[in-house]
Amino acid sequence: MKLVRKFRPPVQTRSFGSGLIVGCFLVSITYVMIYKNEIVNCVPSSPSLLPSLLSGAAPMSSMVGNNRKIQVSGHAKGTQRSELKSSEVMELHDNSSSKASVSDVAVKEKNSTTNKSGDGSPGRNQMCDHSSFRVDICDMEGDIRITGKNSSSVMLIGISPDMSSRDGKESWQMKPYPRKYDFSAMSKVGALNLKSLHGDQEAPKCTINHTVPGVLFSTGGHCGNCFHDFADVLIPLFQTASPFQGQVQLIITNYAGWWMHKYRPYLTKLSSYDVIDLDNDERVHCFRHLTVGLRAGRDLMIDPSASPNDTIMDFVQLTRAAYSLDRDRAWPAGVRSNKMKPRLLFIARGGTRRFVNLEELVGMAEEVGYEVVASEPDFFDVARFGHIVNSCDVMVGVHGAGLTNFLFLPTNSVVVQVVPLGNLDWIAQNFYAEPAKGRKLKYLQYNITQEESTLMDLYPPDHAVFKDPDYIHKQGWSKLGNVYLKQQSVRLHVNRFRSMLQKALQLLHENN
Ligand SMILES: *[C@@H]1O[C@H](CO)[C@@H](O)[C@H](O)[C@H]1NC(C)=O
Ligand SMILES: *[C@@H]1O[C@H](CO)[C@@H](O)[C@H](O)[C@H]1NC(C)=O
Ligand SMILES: *[C@@H]1O[C@H](CO)[C@@H](O)[C@H](O)[C@H]1NC(C)=O
Ligand SMILES: *[C@@H]1O[C@H](CO)[C@@H](O)[C@H](O)[C@H]1NC(C)=O
Ligand SMILES: *[C@@H]1O[C@H](CO)[C@@H](O)[C@H](O)[C@H]1NC(C)=O
Ligand SMILES: *[C@@H]1O[C@H](CO)[C@@H](O)[C@H](O)[C@H]1NC(C)=O
Repeated sequence: MKLVRKFRPPVQTRSFGSGLIVGCFLVSITYVMIYKNEIVNCVPSSPSLLPSLLSGAAPMSSMVGNNRKIQVSGHAKGTQRSELKSSEVMELHDNSSSKASVSDVAVKEKNSTTNKSGDGSPGRNQMCDHSSFRVDICDMEGDIRITGKNSSSVMLIGISPDMSSRDGKESWQMKPYPRKYDFSAMSKVGALNLKSLHGDQEAPKCTINHTVPGVLFSTGGHCGNCFHDFADVLIPLFQTASPFQGQVQLIITNYAGWWMHKYRPYLTKLSSYDVIDLDNDERVHCFRHLTVGLRAGRDLMIDPSASPNDTIMDFVQLTRAAYSLDRDRAWPAGVRSNKMKPRLLFIARGGTRRFVNLEELVGMAEEVGYEVVASEPDFFDVARFGHIVNSCDVMVGVHGAGLTNFLFLPTNSVVVQVVPLGNLDWIAQNFYAEPAKGRKLKYLQYNITQEESTLMDLYPPDHAVFKDPDYIHKQGWSKLGNVYLKQQSVRLHVNRFRSMLQKALQLLHENN
Protein backbone atom coordinates (compact mmCIF):
# COMPACT_ATOMS: atom_id res chain seq x y z
CA MET A 1 0.00 0.00 0.00
CA LYS A 2 1.65 3.09 -1.15
CA LEU A 3 0.23 6.50 -0.92
CA VAL A 4 2.00 9.42 -2.37
CA ARG A 5 0.52 12.75 -1.60
CA LYS A 6 1.80 15.78 -3.28
CA PHE A 7 0.00 19.02 -2.89
CA ARG A 8 2.87 21.35 -3.36
CA PRO A 9 2.27 24.17 -5.78
CA PRO A 10 4.53 23.24 -8.65
CA VAL A 11 5.84 26.68 -9.38
CA GLN A 12 6.97 27.53 -5.92
CA THR A 13 9.21 24.54 -5.81
CA ARG A 14 11.04 25.39 -8.96
CA SER A 15 13.35 28.23 -9.56
CA PHE A 16 13.89 29.76 -12.91
CA GLY A 17 14.37 33.14 -14.44
CA SER A 18 11.14 35.01 -14.19
CA GLY A 19 11.56 36.39 -17.67
CA LEU A 20 11.50 32.86 -18.89
CA ILE A 21 7.87 32.35 -18.26
CA VAL A 22 6.28 35.72 -18.31
CA GLY A 23 4.96 34.89 -21.72
CA CYS A 24 3.42 31.77 -20.35
CA PHE A 25 1.16 33.67 -18.07
CA LEU A 26 -0.78 35.33 -20.71
CA VAL A 27 -3.95 33.96 -19.53
CA SER A 28 -6.72 33.30 -21.85
CA ILE A 29 -10.20 32.25 -21.89
CA THR A 30 -11.94 30.71 -24.73
CA TYR A 31 -15.07 28.89 -25.18
CA VAL A 32 -17.42 27.70 -27.73
CA MET A 33 -21.08 27.57 -27.28
CA ILE A 34 -23.41 25.44 -29.19
CA TYR A 35 -26.96 26.46 -29.38
CA LYS A 36 -29.23 23.50 -29.21
CA ASN A 37 -32.83 24.47 -28.92
CA GLU A 38 -31.82 27.63 -27.18
CA ILE A 39 -29.68 25.72 -24.74
CA VAL A 40 -26.18 26.94 -24.53
CA ASN A 41 -23.30 24.71 -23.68
CA CYS A 42 -20.18 26.53 -22.78
CA VAL A 43 -16.58 25.73 -22.43
CA PRO A 44 -14.97 27.98 -19.90
CA SER A 45 -11.34 27.71 -19.27
CA SER A 46 -9.86 30.17 -16.92
CA PRO A 47 -12.40 31.39 -14.49
CA SER A 48 -9.73 32.85 -12.30
CA LEU A 49 -9.57 35.69 -14.76
CA LEU A 50 -13.15 36.52 -14.51
CA PRO A 51 -12.59 39.78 -12.70
CA SER A 52 -10.60 41.22 -15.54
CA LEU A 53 -13.14 39.99 -18.01
CA LEU A 54 -15.95 41.54 -16.11
CA SER A 55 -14.13 44.80 -15.83
CA GLY A 56 -14.20 44.99 -19.56
CA ALA A 57 -10.47 44.72 -19.93
CA ALA A 58 -10.70 41.77 -22.21
CA PRO A 59 -11.89 41.92 -25.75
CA MET A 60 -14.84 39.79 -26.48
CA SER A 61 -15.71 38.69 -29.89
CA SER A 62 -18.21 36.42 -31.36
CA MET A 63 -18.73 34.92 -34.66
CA VAL A 64 -21.22 32.60 -36.11
CA GLY A 65 -19.56 29.67 -37.77
CA ASN A 66 -22.74 28.19 -39.07
CA ASN A 67 -26.27 28.37 -37.95
CA ARG A 68 -25.74 26.03 -35.05
CA LYS A 69 -22.48 27.20 -33.68
CA ILE A 70 -21.43 30.33 -31.96
CA GLN A 71 -18.00 31.05 -30.75
CA VAL A 72 -17.21 33.66 -28.22
CA SER A 73 -13.86 34.33 -26.84
CA GLY A 74 -12.08 36.78 -24.70
CA HIS A 75 -8.74 37.06 -23.15
CA ALA A 76 -7.00 38.89 -20.43
CA LYS A 77 -3.36 39.44 -19.92
CA GLY A 78 -1.36 38.95 -16.80
CA THR A 79 1.51 41.14 -17.76
CA GLN A 80 3.71 40.31 -14.85
CA ARG A 81 4.11 37.02 -13.25
CA SER A 82 3.99 38.68 -9.86
CA GLU A 83 0.47 39.82 -10.50
CA LEU A 84 -0.75 36.29 -10.42
CA LYS A 85 -1.68 34.71 -7.19
CA SER A 86 -0.23 31.30 -6.66
CA SER A 87 -3.68 29.80 -6.74
CA GLU A 88 -4.12 31.15 -10.22
CA VAL A 89 -0.72 29.96 -11.25
CA MET A 90 -1.52 26.52 -10.08
CA GLU A 91 -4.66 26.43 -12.07
CA LEU A 92 -2.96 27.55 -15.17
CA HIS A 93 -0.71 24.64 -14.94
CA ASP A 94 -2.97 21.97 -15.82
CA ASN A 95 -5.91 23.61 -16.89
CA SER A 96 -7.06 21.37 -19.44
CA SER A 97 -10.31 22.73 -20.45
CA SER A 98 -9.95 25.81 -22.46
CA LYS A 99 -10.54 24.21 -25.66
CA ALA A 100 -12.97 24.26 -28.32
CA SER A 101 -13.76 21.62 -30.74
CA VAL A 102 -17.13 21.05 -32.12
CA SER A 103 -18.21 17.81 -33.57
CA ASP A 104 -20.04 19.37 -36.43
CA VAL A 105 -16.98 21.43 -37.07
CA ALA A 106 -14.97 18.26 -37.25
CA VAL A 107 -17.26 17.00 -39.96
CA LYS A 108 -16.82 20.22 -41.79
CA GLU A 109 -13.11 19.82 -41.65
CA LYS A 110 -13.20 16.49 -43.37
CA ASN A 111 -14.60 18.26 -46.29
CA SER A 112 -11.75 20.63 -46.62
CA THR A 113 -9.69 19.83 -49.62
CA THR A 114 -6.65 21.50 -50.93
CA ASN A 115 -7.16 23.34 -54.12
CA LYS A 116 -3.84 22.52 -55.57
CA SER A 117 -4.76 21.73 -59.10
CA GLY A 118 -4.50 25.25 -60.42
CA ASP A 119 -2.63 26.16 -63.58
CA GLY A 120 0.79 24.89 -62.57
CA SER A 121 2.00 28.21 -61.21
CA PRO A 122 1.88 27.98 -57.47
CA GLY A 123 0.61 31.25 -56.08
CA ARG A 124 -1.04 31.63 -52.74
CA ASN A 125 -4.14 29.73 -53.64
CA GLN A 126 -2.23 26.79 -54.95
CA MET A 127 0.20 26.57 -52.05
CA CYS A 128 -2.08 27.30 -49.17
CA ASP A 129 -5.15 25.65 -47.83
CA HIS A 130 -7.33 28.05 -45.92
CA SER A 131 -10.43 25.93 -46.07
CA SER A 132 -10.21 24.13 -42.75
CA PHE A 133 -12.08 25.46 -39.74
CA ARG A 134 -9.02 25.04 -37.66
CA VAL A 135 -5.82 25.53 -39.60
CA ASP A 136 -4.27 27.45 -42.42
CA ILE A 137 -1.42 25.54 -43.93
CA CYS A 138 0.94 26.28 -46.81
CA ASP A 139 3.03 23.67 -48.53
CA MET A 140 5.76 25.33 -50.54
CA GLU A 141 8.25 24.03 -53.00
CA GLY A 142 10.96 26.05 -54.71
CA ASP A 143 13.43 28.77 -53.76
CA ILE A 144 12.20 29.64 -50.28
CA ARG A 145 13.86 32.17 -47.99
CA ILE A 146 12.94 32.86 -44.42
CA THR A 147 13.93 35.78 -42.25
CA GLY A 148 13.11 36.04 -38.59
CA LYS A 149 14.38 38.92 -36.55
CA ASN A 150 12.54 42.20 -37.02
CA SER A 151 10.03 40.82 -39.44
CA SER A 152 9.22 37.16 -39.76
CA SER A 153 8.87 36.59 -43.46
CA VAL A 154 8.72 33.72 -45.83
CA MET A 155 9.59 34.46 -49.43
CA LEU A 156 9.09 32.21 -52.37
CA ILE A 157 11.16 33.31 -55.32
CA GLY A 158 10.69 33.00 -59.03
CA ILE A 159 7.25 31.62 -59.38
CA SER A 160 4.42 33.08 -61.36
CA PRO A 161 2.13 34.65 -58.89
CA ASP A 162 -1.61 34.65 -59.12
CA MET A 163 -3.15 36.52 -61.99
CA SER A 164 -4.80 38.77 -59.49
CA SER A 165 -1.58 40.54 -58.67
CA ARG A 166 -0.55 42.87 -61.43
CA ASP A 167 3.03 43.61 -60.45
CA GLY A 168 4.17 40.04 -60.26
CA LYS A 169 4.16 39.98 -56.48
CA GLU A 170 1.77 38.67 -53.98
CA SER A 171 1.87 38.93 -50.23
CA TRP A 172 -0.32 37.86 -47.40
CA GLN A 173 -0.15 37.07 -43.72
CA MET A 174 -0.85 33.98 -41.73
CA LYS A 175 -0.49 32.68 -38.21
CA PRO A 176 0.97 29.20 -37.98
CA TYR A 177 -1.11 27.94 -35.06
CA PRO A 178 -3.96 25.50 -35.53
CA ARG A 179 -6.85 27.20 -33.77
CA LYS A 180 -7.72 29.92 -36.17
CA TYR A 181 -11.32 30.29 -35.02
CA ASP A 182 -10.11 31.10 -31.53
CA PHE A 183 -9.55 34.81 -31.29
CA SER A 184 -8.00 34.56 -27.87
CA ALA A 185 -5.41 32.01 -28.93
CA MET A 186 -4.60 33.72 -32.20
CA SER A 187 -4.04 37.06 -30.53
CA LYS A 188 -0.99 35.46 -28.96
CA VAL A 189 0.48 34.17 -32.20
CA GLY A 190 2.79 36.34 -34.26
CA ALA A 191 1.80 36.90 -37.86
CA LEU A 192 4.13 35.77 -40.63
CA ASN A 193 4.49 37.74 -43.83
CA LEU A 194 4.39 35.52 -46.85
CA LYS A 195 5.44 36.79 -50.23
CA SER A 196 5.88 35.38 -53.64
CA LEU A 197 8.44 37.32 -55.64
CA HIS A 198 9.18 37.27 -59.32
CA GLY A 199 12.94 37.39 -59.06
CA ASP A 200 15.48 37.34 -56.31
CA GLN A 201 16.75 40.92 -56.71
CA GLU A 202 14.82 42.11 -53.71
CA ALA A 203 15.22 38.90 -51.72
CA PRO A 204 17.87 38.56 -49.03
CA LYS A 205 20.84 36.27 -49.73
CA CYS A 206 20.86 32.88 -48.09
CA THR A 207 22.95 32.47 -44.97
CA ILE A 208 22.18 28.77 -44.75
CA ASN A 209 20.93 26.41 -47.41
CA HIS A 210 19.00 23.66 -45.66
CA THR A 211 18.98 20.37 -47.44
CA VAL A 212 16.01 18.95 -45.53
CA PRO A 213 12.44 20.29 -45.61
CA GLY A 214 11.27 22.76 -42.98
CA VAL A 215 8.16 22.92 -40.81
CA LEU A 216 7.34 26.34 -39.41
CA PHE A 217 4.92 26.71 -36.50
CA SER A 218 4.18 28.75 -33.39
CA THR A 219 4.30 27.82 -29.72
CA GLY A 220 2.34 30.92 -28.74
CA GLY A 221 -1.44 30.76 -28.47
CA HIS A 222 -2.66 28.72 -25.55
CA CYS A 223 0.63 26.93 -25.04
CA GLY A 224 1.39 26.46 -21.38
CA ASN A 225 -1.94 24.82 -20.82
CA CYS A 226 -1.35 21.10 -20.88
CA PHE A 227 -4.39 20.33 -22.99
CA HIS A 228 -3.38 22.91 -25.59
CA ASP A 229 0.26 21.88 -25.61
CA PHE A 230 -0.92 18.53 -26.88
CA ALA A 231 -4.03 19.45 -28.84
CA ASP A 232 -2.59 22.51 -30.57
CA VAL A 233 1.06 21.72 -31.00
CA LEU A 234 2.46 18.31 -30.12
CA ILE A 235 -0.10 16.12 -31.85
CA PRO A 236 -0.44 18.40 -34.90
CA LEU A 237 3.34 18.63 -35.11
CA PHE A 238 3.55 14.87 -35.00
CA GLN A 239 1.06 14.65 -37.87
CA THR A 240 2.98 17.21 -39.87
CA ALA A 241 6.58 16.25 -39.21
CA SER A 242 6.65 12.51 -38.65
CA PRO A 243 6.45 11.57 -42.36
CA PHE A 244 9.95 13.06 -42.72
CA GLN A 245 11.35 10.58 -40.20
CA GLY A 246 13.58 13.06 -38.45
CA GLN A 247 14.94 14.58 -41.66
CA VAL A 248 13.15 17.86 -41.11
CA GLN A 249 14.09 21.25 -39.74
CA LEU A 250 11.67 22.67 -37.17
CA ILE A 251 11.30 26.45 -37.13
CA ILE A 252 9.43 27.97 -34.22
CA THR A 253 7.92 31.40 -33.74
CA ASN A 254 6.83 32.66 -30.33
CA TYR A 255 9.54 30.37 -29.05
CA ALA A 256 9.65 30.00 -25.27
CA GLY A 257 12.57 28.39 -23.50
CA TRP A 258 10.43 26.83 -20.80
CA TRP A 259 8.17 25.25 -23.36
CA MET A 260 11.11 23.79 -25.22
CA HIS A 261 12.57 22.48 -22.03
CA LYS A 262 9.33 20.82 -21.15
CA TYR A 263 8.76 19.09 -24.46
CA ARG A 264 12.24 18.73 -25.92
CA PRO A 265 12.01 14.93 -25.75
CA TYR A 266 9.25 15.09 -28.36
CA LEU A 267 11.09 17.53 -30.58
CA THR A 268 14.29 15.56 -30.62
CA LYS A 269 12.33 12.49 -31.66
CA LEU A 270 10.64 14.34 -34.48
CA SER A 271 13.67 16.14 -35.83
CA SER A 272 17.37 15.34 -35.93
CA TYR A 273 18.22 19.05 -36.09
CA ASP A 274 18.30 21.82 -33.52
CA VAL A 275 15.18 23.91 -33.72
CA ILE A 276 15.39 27.44 -35.05
CA ASP A 277 14.04 30.18 -32.78
CA LEU A 278 12.90 32.28 -35.68
CA ASP A 279 12.00 35.51 -33.90
CA ASN A 280 15.56 35.78 -32.58
CA ASP A 281 17.41 34.57 -35.60
CA GLU A 282 19.25 37.01 -37.79
CA ARG A 283 20.16 34.54 -40.49
CA VAL A 284 18.41 33.99 -43.78
CA HIS A 285 17.33 30.36 -43.94
CA CYS A 286 16.77 28.85 -47.34
CA PHE A 287 14.73 25.78 -48.13
CA ARG A 288 13.52 23.88 -51.15
CA HIS A 289 10.48 22.60 -49.31
CA LEU A 290 8.64 24.24 -46.45
CA THR A 291 5.39 23.64 -44.63
CA VAL A 292 4.01 26.66 -42.83
CA GLY A 293 1.48 25.69 -40.16
CA LEU A 294 0.52 22.33 -38.68
CA ARG A 295 -2.04 19.77 -39.74
CA ALA A 296 -4.70 19.29 -37.12
CA GLY A 297 -8.08 17.73 -36.68
CA ARG A 298 -10.16 17.21 -33.59
CA ASP A 299 -8.57 17.87 -30.24
CA LEU A 300 -6.32 15.06 -29.00
CA MET A 301 -7.29 12.90 -31.95
CA ILE A 302 -5.86 12.12 -35.36
CA ASP A 303 -8.24 11.64 -38.23
CA PRO A 304 -7.16 8.49 -40.08
CA SER A 305 -8.36 9.88 -43.39
CA ALA A 306 -6.11 12.91 -42.99
CA SER A 307 -3.04 11.03 -41.72
CA PRO A 308 -3.36 7.40 -42.77
CA ASN A 309 0.16 6.50 -41.69
CA ASP A 310 0.18 8.18 -38.32
CA THR A 311 -2.45 7.26 -35.79
CA ILE A 312 -2.93 8.57 -32.30
CA MET A 313 -1.47 5.25 -31.15
CA ASP A 314 1.71 6.12 -33.01
CA PHE A 315 1.76 9.37 -31.09
CA VAL A 316 1.38 7.41 -27.86
CA GLN A 317 4.27 5.24 -28.97
CA LEU A 318 6.33 8.35 -29.57
CA THR A 319 5.39 9.63 -26.13
CA ARG A 320 6.62 6.43 -24.52
CA ALA A 321 9.86 6.61 -26.40
CA ALA A 322 10.34 10.30 -25.68
CA TYR A 323 9.89 9.97 -21.93
CA SER A 324 11.15 6.39 -21.56
CA LEU A 325 7.85 5.11 -20.28
CA ASP A 326 8.09 1.37 -20.05
CA ARG A 327 4.52 0.16 -19.67
CA ASP A 328 2.75 -0.51 -22.90
CA ARG A 329 -0.24 -2.47 -21.58
CA ALA A 330 -2.28 -2.15 -18.42
CA TRP A 331 -2.61 -4.70 -15.66
CA PRO A 332 -2.50 -7.62 -15.65
CA ALA A 333 -0.48 -7.79 -18.81
CA GLY A 334 2.88 -6.24 -19.29
CA VAL A 335 5.78 -5.93 -16.97
CA ARG A 336 3.88 -6.35 -13.78
CA SER A 337 3.39 -9.71 -12.16
CA ASN A 338 -0.20 -10.87 -11.90
CA LYS A 339 0.04 -11.10 -8.17
CA MET A 340 0.42 -7.40 -7.80
CA LYS A 341 -2.54 -5.16 -7.32
CA PRO A 342 -3.56 -2.81 -10.07
CA ARG A 343 -2.57 0.77 -9.38
CA LEU A 344 -5.05 3.59 -9.25
CA LEU A 345 -4.12 7.25 -9.58
CA PHE A 346 -6.15 10.11 -8.22
CA ILE A 347 -5.12 13.33 -9.93
CA ALA A 348 -5.12 15.30 -6.74
CA ARG A 349 -5.00 18.93 -7.61
CA GLY A 350 -4.65 21.48 -4.90
CA GLY A 351 -6.57 24.24 -6.65
CA THR A 352 -10.13 24.16 -7.85
CA ARG A 353 -12.07 21.04 -8.64
CA ARG A 354 -10.40 19.17 -5.84
CA PHE A 355 -11.38 15.86 -4.33
CA VAL A 356 -12.36 17.30 -0.98
CA ASN A 357 -12.59 13.95 0.80
CA LEU A 358 -9.57 12.42 -0.88
CA GLU A 359 -8.44 10.46 2.17
CA GLU A 360 -11.75 8.69 2.43
CA LEU A 361 -11.67 7.88 -1.26
CA VAL A 362 -8.15 6.55 -1.03
CA GLY A 363 -9.15 4.27 1.85
CA MET A 364 -12.14 3.00 -0.08
CA ALA A 365 -10.08 2.40 -3.23
CA GLU A 366 -7.63 0.34 -1.21
CA GLU A 367 -10.52 -1.72 0.13
CA VAL A 368 -11.70 -2.33 -3.41
CA GLY A 369 -8.29 -3.80 -4.18
CA TYR A 370 -6.07 -1.11 -5.60
CA GLU A 371 -2.68 0.17 -4.75
CA VAL A 372 -3.49 3.86 -4.62
CA VAL A 373 -1.44 6.84 -5.71
CA ALA A 374 -2.55 10.42 -5.25
CA SER A 375 -0.46 12.93 -7.12
CA GLU A 376 -0.60 16.21 -8.93
CA PRO A 377 0.98 17.12 -12.25
CA ASP A 378 4.06 19.32 -12.25
CA PHE A 379 4.12 22.27 -14.53
CA PHE A 380 7.68 21.82 -15.68
CA ASP A 381 8.46 18.21 -15.05
CA VAL A 382 6.49 16.30 -17.63
CA ALA A 383 8.59 13.19 -17.13
CA ARG A 384 7.90 12.85 -13.43
CA PHE A 385 4.14 12.86 -13.73
CA GLY A 386 4.29 10.92 -16.99
CA HIS A 387 6.05 8.10 -15.19
CA ILE A 388 3.55 8.12 -12.36
CA VAL A 389 0.65 7.98 -14.80
CA ASN A 390 2.31 5.26 -16.83
CA SER A 391 2.80 3.16 -13.71
CA CYS A 392 -0.97 3.12 -13.11
CA ASP A 393 -3.85 1.11 -14.52
CA VAL A 394 -6.71 3.38 -13.54
CA MET A 395 -6.66 7.18 -13.57
CA VAL A 396 -9.33 9.20 -11.81
CA GLY A 397 -9.63 12.93 -12.38
CA VAL A 398 -12.14 15.72 -12.33
CA HIS A 399 -13.05 17.24 -15.67
CA GLY A 400 -10.44 19.67 -16.92
CA ALA A 401 -8.13 19.00 -14.03
CA GLY A 402 -5.23 17.18 -15.59
CA LEU A 403 -7.04 14.50 -17.57
CA THR A 404 -4.96 15.18 -20.67
CA ASN A 405 -2.34 13.08 -18.94
CA PHE A 406 -4.27 10.02 -20.06
CA LEU A 407 -1.87 10.11 -22.99
CA PHE A 408 0.77 8.62 -20.68
CA LEU A 409 -1.36 5.69 -19.53
CA PRO A 410 -0.65 2.20 -20.75
CA THR A 411 -3.10 0.98 -23.36
CA ASN A 412 -6.21 -0.77 -22.00
CA SER A 413 -6.13 1.07 -18.73
CA VAL A 414 -9.19 2.81 -17.42
CA VAL A 415 -9.89 6.54 -17.27
CA VAL A 416 -12.58 7.75 -14.90
CA GLN A 417 -13.75 11.28 -15.58
CA VAL A 418 -15.60 12.88 -12.69
CA VAL A 419 -17.96 15.44 -14.19
CA PRO A 420 -19.03 18.26 -11.87
CA LEU A 421 -22.46 19.88 -11.94
CA GLY A 422 -23.35 22.36 -14.62
CA ASN A 423 -24.37 20.66 -17.89
CA LEU A 424 -20.77 20.04 -18.81
CA ASP A 425 -21.45 16.84 -20.64
CA TRP A 426 -20.62 18.13 -24.08
CA ILE A 427 -17.14 19.21 -23.20
CA ALA A 428 -16.67 16.11 -21.10
CA GLN A 429 -17.39 14.00 -24.18
CA ASN A 430 -15.46 15.92 -26.77
CA PHE A 431 -12.35 16.82 -24.87
CA TYR A 432 -11.78 13.67 -22.87
CA ALA A 433 -14.22 10.82 -23.40
CA GLU A 434 -13.87 10.45 -27.14
CA PRO A 435 -10.12 11.10 -27.26
CA ALA A 436 -9.58 8.59 -24.43
CA LYS A 437 -11.51 5.92 -26.30
CA GLY A 438 -9.68 6.79 -29.51
CA ARG A 439 -6.48 6.23 -27.60
CA LYS A 440 -7.64 2.68 -26.72
CA LEU A 441 -8.36 3.33 -23.09
CA LYS A 442 -11.44 2.17 -21.27
CA TYR A 443 -13.58 5.07 -20.28
CA LEU A 444 -15.92 5.53 -17.37
CA GLN A 445 -17.81 8.66 -16.48
CA TYR A 446 -19.06 9.63 -13.07
CA ASN A 447 -21.59 12.46 -13.06
CA ILE A 448 -21.73 13.84 -9.57
CA THR A 449 -25.02 14.47 -7.82
CA GLN A 450 -25.97 17.75 -6.24
CA GLU A 451 -25.02 16.46 -2.80
CA GLU A 452 -21.52 15.71 -4.02
CA SER A 453 -20.83 19.27 -5.10
CA THR A 454 -19.23 21.80 -2.82
CA LEU A 455 -21.56 24.33 -4.43
CA MET A 456 -23.96 23.07 -1.76
CA ASP A 457 -21.82 24.96 0.73
CA LEU A 458 -22.28 28.16 -1.22
CA TYR A 459 -25.81 28.16 -2.56
CA PRO A 460 -29.20 27.15 -1.18
CA PRO A 461 -30.35 23.79 -2.55
CA ASP A 462 -33.09 25.31 -4.67
CA HIS A 463 -30.80 27.87 -6.29
CA ALA A 464 -30.68 28.14 -10.06
CA VAL A 465 -27.11 26.90 -9.92
CA PHE A 466 -28.62 23.47 -9.23
CA LYS A 467 -32.10 23.77 -10.63
CA ASP A 468 -31.44 25.57 -13.86
CA PRO A 469 -27.86 25.34 -15.14
CA ASP A 470 -29.03 26.62 -18.49
CA TYR A 471 -30.01 29.83 -16.84
CA ILE A 472 -26.45 30.16 -15.56
CA HIS A 473 -25.11 29.29 -19.00
CA LYS A 474 -27.17 32.06 -20.50
CA GLN A 475 -25.61 34.60 -18.21
CA GLY A 476 -22.42 34.09 -20.09
CA TRP A 477 -19.25 32.39 -19.84
CA SER A 478 -17.77 34.24 -16.98
CA LYS A 479 -20.65 33.43 -14.72
CA LEU A 480 -20.70 29.85 -15.83
CA GLY A 481 -16.98 29.31 -15.48
CA ASN A 482 -16.87 31.04 -12.17
CA VAL A 483 -19.62 28.94 -10.70
CA TYR A 484 -19.10 25.52 -12.17
CA LEU A 485 -15.37 25.35 -12.69
CA LYS A 486 -13.88 27.79 -10.29
CA GLN A 487 -16.08 27.57 -7.23
CA GLN A 488 -16.81 23.91 -7.51
CA SER A 489 -14.97 21.00 -5.94
CA VAL A 490 -16.28 17.50 -5.43
CA ARG A 491 -17.01 15.56 -2.26
CA LEU A 492 -17.78 12.14 -3.68
CA HIS A 493 -20.16 9.73 -1.98
CA VAL A 494 -17.82 6.98 -0.99
CA ASN A 495 -20.29 4.20 -1.63
CA ARG A 496 -21.61 5.56 -4.87
CA PHE A 497 -18.10 6.03 -6.16
CA ARG A 498 -17.06 2.60 -4.90
CA SER A 499 -19.16 0.95 -7.58
CA MET A 500 -17.36 2.97 -10.20
CA LEU A 501 -14.00 1.72 -8.97
CA GLN A 502 -15.33 -1.83 -8.85
CA LYS A 503 -16.43 -1.47 -12.43
CA ALA A 504 -12.98 -0.24 -13.37
CA LEU A 505 -11.46 -3.28 -11.70
CA GLN A 506 -13.79 -5.51 -13.64
CA LEU A 507 -12.72 -3.83 -16.87
CA LEU A 508 -9.10 -4.53 -16.00
CA HIS A 509 -9.90 -8.18 -15.42
CA GLU A 510 -11.33 -8.29 -18.91
CA ASN A 511 -7.84 -7.51 -20.16
CA ASN A 512 -6.98 -11.10 -19.43
C1 LIG B 1 -18.65 18.66 -48.60
O1 LIG B 1 -18.84 19.74 -49.43
C2 LIG B 1 -19.76 19.52 -50.48
C3 LIG B 1 -19.83 20.73 -51.38
O2 LIG B 1 -19.03 21.73 -50.90
C4 LIG B 1 -21.11 19.21 -49.87
O3 LIG B 1 -22.04 18.94 -50.90
C5 LIG B 1 -20.98 18.01 -48.99
O4 LIG B 1 -22.21 17.75 -48.36
C6 LIG B 1 -19.92 18.25 -47.95
N1 LIG B 1 -19.73 17.06 -47.19
C7 LIG B 1 -19.73 17.07 -45.87
C8 LIG B 1 -19.45 15.79 -45.21
O5 LIG B 1 -19.94 18.10 -45.25
C1 LIG C 1 -10.85 25.31 -56.15
O1 LIG C 1 -10.67 25.08 -57.50
C2 LIG C 1 -11.86 25.12 -58.26
C3 LIG C 1 -11.55 24.78 -59.67
O2 LIG C 1 -10.24 24.39 -59.82
C4 LIG C 1 -12.47 26.50 -58.15
O3 LIG C 1 -13.71 26.52 -58.84
C5 LIG C 1 -12.74 26.79 -56.69
O4 LIG C 1 -13.24 28.09 -56.56
C6 LIG C 1 -11.47 26.67 -55.91
N1 LIG C 1 -11.77 26.84 -54.52
C7 LIG C 1 -11.03 27.62 -53.77
C8 LIG C 1 -11.40 27.69 -52.35
O5 LIG C 1 -10.07 28.23 -54.20
C1 LIG D 1 22.82 28.50 -51.28
O1 LIG D 1 22.42 27.97 -52.51
C2 LIG D 1 22.44 28.95 -53.56
C3 LIG D 1 21.85 28.32 -54.79
O2 LIG D 1 22.35 27.06 -54.97
C4 LIG D 1 23.84 29.43 -53.77
O3 LIG D 1 23.89 30.40 -54.78
C5 LIG D 1 24.34 30.04 -52.47
O4 LIG D 1 25.68 30.42 -52.59
C6 LIG D 1 24.21 29.06 -51.34
N1 LIG D 1 24.51 29.76 -50.12
C7 LIG D 1 25.21 29.21 -49.15
C8 LIG D 1 25.46 30.07 -47.96
O5 LIG D 1 25.65 28.09 -49.22
C1 LIG E 1 16.69 44.66 -37.20
O1 LIG E 1 16.45 45.98 -36.81
C2 LIG E 1 17.58 46.61 -36.24
C3 LIG E 1 17.18 47.97 -35.76
O2 LIG E 1 15.95 48.34 -36.24
C4 LIG E 1 18.68 46.68 -37.27
O3 LIG E 1 19.80 47.27 -36.71
C5 LIG E 1 19.01 45.29 -37.73
O4 LIG E 1 19.95 45.33 -38.75
C6 LIG E 1 17.79 44.57 -38.23
N1 LIG E 1 18.11 43.21 -38.49
C7 LIG E 1 17.73 42.61 -39.59
C8 LIG E 1 18.15 41.17 -39.72
O5 LIG E 1 17.08 43.15 -40.43
C1 LIG F 1 2.00 6.01 -46.12
O1 LIG F 1 2.96 5.00 -46.15
C2 LIG F 1 3.06 4.39 -47.42
C3 LIG F 1 4.00 3.23 -47.32
O2 LIG F 1 5.08 3.56 -46.52
C4 LIG F 1 3.51 5.41 -48.44
O3 LIG F 1 3.59 4.83 -49.70
C5 LIG F 1 2.50 6.54 -48.46
O4 LIG F 1 2.94 7.54 -49.33
C6 LIG F 1 2.31 7.09 -47.09
N1 LIG F 1 1.24 8.05 -47.14
C7 LIG F 1 1.36 9.25 -46.64
C8 LIG F 1 0.18 10.13 -46.73
O5 LIG F 1 2.39 9.66 -46.12
C1 LIG G 1 -23.92 11.98 -17.43
O1 LIG G 1 -24.79 13.02 -17.77
C2 LIG G 1 -25.03 13.16 -19.15
C3 LIG G 1 -25.83 14.39 -19.36
O2 LIG G 1 -26.86 14.47 -18.48
C4 LIG G 1 -25.67 11.92 -19.67
O3 LIG G 1 -25.90 12.06 -21.05
C5 LIG G 1 -24.76 10.77 -19.43
O4 LIG G 1 -25.37 9.59 -19.87
C6 LIG G 1 -24.44 10.67 -17.98
N1 LIG G 1 -23.46 9.65 -17.84
C7 LIG G 1 -23.45 8.79 -16.87
C8 LIG G 1 -22.40 7.76 -16.88
O5 LIG G 1 -24.27 8.83 -15.98
